[in-house]
Amino acid sequence: MCGIVGYIGHREAYPIILKGLKRLEYRGYDSAGIAIYDGNTIKLSKTKGKVEDLEKCVLDEISTNGKLGIGHTRWATHGVPNNVNSHPHYSNSGDLVIIHNGIIENYESLKKELVKRGYSFHSETDTEVLINLIEDVRNNENVKLGKAVQIALNQVVGAYAIAVFDKTKPDEIVVARLGSPLAIGIGDKEFFIASDATPFLEYTKNAIYLEDEEMAVVRLEKGIKIRKIKDDSLVDPYIQELQLNLEQIEKGGYEHFMLKEIYEQPNAILDTFRGRLSVEQAIIKMAGIEDNMKRFLNADRIIIVACGTSWHAGLVAEYIFEDLARIPVEVEYASEFRYRNPVIKENDIVIAISQSGETADTLAAIKLAKSKGAFVFGVCNVVGSSIARATNAGAYTHAGPEIGVASTKAFTTQITVLSLIALRLSRAKGTISSTDYRMHLIELEMIPKKVENALKSDENIKAIAAIYKEASNCLYLGRGYNFPVALEGALKLKEISYIHAEGYPAAEMKHGPIALIDENMPIVVIATKKGHYEKVVSNIQEIKSRKGKIIAIVTEGDETVKSIADHTIEVPETLESLSPLLTTIPLQLLSYYIAVMLGKNVDQPRNLAKSVTVE
Ligand code: M6R
Repeated sequence: MCGIVGYIGHREAYPIILKGLKRLEYRGYDSAGIAIYDGNTIKLSKTKGKVEDLEKCVLDEISTNGKLGIGHTRWATHGVPNNVNSHPHYSNSGDLVIIHNGIIENYESLKKELVKRGYSFHSETDTEVLINLIEDVRNNENVKLGKAVQIALNQVVGAYAIAVFDKTKPDEIVVARLGSPLAIGIGDKEFFIASDATPFLEYTKNAIYLEDEEMAVVRLEKGIKIRKIKDDSLVDPYIQELQLNLEQIEKGGYEHFMLKEIYEQPNAILDTFRGRLSVEQAIIKMAGIEDNMKRFLNADRIIIVACGTSWHAGLVAEYIFEDLARIPVEVEYASEFRYRNPVIKENDIVIAISQSGETADTLAAIKLAKSKGAFVFGVCNVVGSSIARATNAGAYTHAGPEIGVASTKAFTTQITVLSLIALRLSRAKGTISSTDYRMHLIELEMIPKKVENALKSDENIKAIAAIYKEASNCLYLGRGYNFPVALEGALKLKEISYIHAEGYPAAEMKHGPIALIDENMPIVVIATKKGHYEKVVSNIQEIKSRKGKIIAIVTEGDETVKSIADHTIEVPETLESLSPLLTTIPLQLLSYYIAVMLGKNVDQPRNLAKSVTVE
C-alpha cells in the first residue's frame, strides 16, 4: 500500500514526481524516495518520513536535471520504515532502479537463490529482491528489460504495481500490475506513471489503466506496448478520458482534506442520486439494478462484504434492506469472510462496498464469492478500480475523490446508494406502499439540504470538542439504524485522535460497558426522535445516574434530552431509515475538532493509509 509515480518526457521530472507523490500520500506516508536519470547516471534520494521530509533532503542535482524518473511514498510492509528500506531500490549493478506497491510473498525463497548466485542485499524489503531477480534474468538470458521484467514476474507470488528503468537504456520505463493499481497518463511526447491519475491531471486527461496481469513498456519515441504477463499476448490499449479535475483533489481553502470532505457531503449526496432519483415521476433508476432485476427479485439473501467504514455502511444497509425490501441480509468483515468457508447458495447476492475499490480483503472476498458461483454487486467510489472491475455489476457512489484517510463522504454516499437500491427493490417487490415509497423519495431528495443544516452546528461541536479533548476513553451509543453510526463515530475518533473509543448498541451497555462509566467518561448518544427514542432516553438516564458525561445527538427542537444531557447537538428531523445520513455529521466534526485540538495529523493519521491493499 504505497504510492508510485514515474515520468518520461521533455520536462524536468523532479517537480512532477514530487507533486505527484504529495497527491498520493494518502496511500502511505512513512517514507519517500525519488530516483532521476540525469543523462548520465541515476541520482537517488530517499528518507524515512513524509514527502516534505524528502523535499528537504533531496540531492541538489536531482531537482534540476533529468527528464526520466520514478518516486515512491511508502506504507511499510516488509522492513521497518527507515532510509534503507525506502524505495526506490537499485539492483546490485546499479543499472536498474525500481518502485513497488504491493507484496512479493515468496521473496524469501527468491532471495536465497539470488544470494547463492552472489547477490547481496542492503534492505529488508521484498522489492530489492524483485529488482535483483529482474537483473539476474536480464543478464543470464540476455534479454531486454521488458522481457526480463516479464520473466521475473512469472516467478513471483504476490501483488504489485511496479515501475522500473535501466540507466543503460534511458528511453523507456517498464511497468506492470497485479492486485495494485497503475495508471499511465499519455501526454504529447511524454508519459506519466502513477497509482492513480491525480499526479498527472494538469498535464493530460488521457489515461490507460493497466489490468491485473498486464505489463507495459513505455517508450519515449515508440509509445506504449501492453502485454499479458503470463502468455505474452499483446493487448490493445484502451485510452480513457479522465473526468477528474484539479479542484476536486485540492484543499480549496480548507485546513484539511477531512474538513473539506465533511463539508462536501451535501453535494456529494446530491451527485450520488443525480440522474437516478426522480421524485416527480416517483422512480429510481440504476442501470446495475435494472439490468439484474430478476436476480435481485429472486434473491433469498444478500451478503454484504466490506471493511472499516464501508462495513459500517453495510450494517446500515442491513437495516434498510430488511426493513424496506424484506430481504435477509448478512454483513461480513471481508477479512473474515475470505478465510471462512462461507455457505453461498444459488440465489444469494453478494454486495461488496469499498470507497477505494482497492481494499485487498474485500477484493479477495469477491474472488471467493465468485468462485462459489455468487453474483457480486459492487458499491465503489473510485471509477475503474479493481473492485469495480472484479464485480459482475455495480453502482458508483460518485462522491468525488476522498483524500483524508478518515472516510466521511464515502460513508454517507454509500448509504445513499444502498438506500436507493433498497427503495428500488422494495418498490419492485411490492414490500413498500406507494405512499411510503414517495415519502422516502421526497425525504431523500431533501437530505443534502438537511446535511447542510446539520453542518451549522460546527461551532457548538468545536466547543464540546474543547471540553473533551483530553479524554482517554469515549463511548458511542445508538440503537437500530443508529447503532452502526455509533460504531462509525467511535472509529473516527480512534483513528484520527488516538483516543480509545467504542461503539455499542445503547441497550447492550447494561451487559458490561456500564461498568466503565464514571464522571470522567464522555458518552456520545444518538437520541433522535424517530426510532427507539423512549428507550434511548431511558439509557441516557442510566448513564446520568452513574455520572457519565452525555453528549447527545438530538432532533431539532428536542427538549426532553436537552434537560438531561450535558450537551446536545441538533440535527434536522428525517425518516428513521435516512437518519444515519444526518446523525453521522456531528460525529465526524467532533472527532475532527478533537484531533485538530490535540495537534494530530488529521489527514494522515499514524500507522494508517487510505487504501489497504495488503492483508
Ligand atoms: O476503500 P475502502 O472503503 O474499501 O476502505 C475500507 C477501510 O479501510 C476504510 O473504510 C477505513 O476504515 C477508513 N480509514 C475509516 O475511516
